[in-house]
Amino acid sequence: MNIPTINKANEMFNDAVRRNPGAWENHSLLVADCASTISKQCKNLDADAAYIFGLLHDIGRREGITTMRHIYDGYLYLKGQRYDDAARICLTHSFPLKSVHAYSGENDCTKDETSFINDYLQNIEYSDYDKLIQLCDALAYPTGVSLIEKRLIDVTMRHGFNEYTLPKWEAFFNLKNEFDSKCNCNIYRLFDIHF
Ligand SMILES: [Fe+2]
Repeated sequence: MNIPTINKANEMFNDAVRRNPGAWENHSLLVADCASTISKQCKNLDADAAYIFGLLHDIGRREGITTMRHIYDGYLYLKGQRYDDAARICLTHSFPLKSVHAYSGENDCTKDETSFINDYLQNIEYSDYDKLIQLCDALAYPTGVSLIEKRLIDVTMRHGFNEYTLPKWEAFFNLKNEFDSKCNCNIYRLFDIHF
């Protein structure tokens, strides 16, 4: 896989946090821990790779305070360093539902960038790592690991309900079911859930 070493990933992450400090730092650390914990229960996943993907999924935040653009910025940054597999996670992590229109929040990408992201999503089959980080992104509440329901309601309260909301919720619950089966347990049991 084309991913940085853990030392290089930490170096890039710390540099990005210095450039644009914010709540995304703890969120990324938590996503990395969740991904590592879940992957240890899955036969076909590597826990170190999962940690690195989780740590770097929001690395596009290094460019400043943006909304959907952080996805594209992260992709360009990691792609520029030839870490193609980590770059891919930046683009896929917000789309359990494969549509750029399903993003919860403002689209601050240009028209061309938006088409690029959408085409990219349509032309790939999600890997288990794509799915794992999508799932962990929903589990990692700012205060700790929480129920997916809490996160989904919170996002919907902030951004409203549209035609993509229900299919997106279904996509998240499908991810949870998929990893419950892979782990042979309810994944919530792997964590100290924060209510
Ligand atoms: Fe993100």
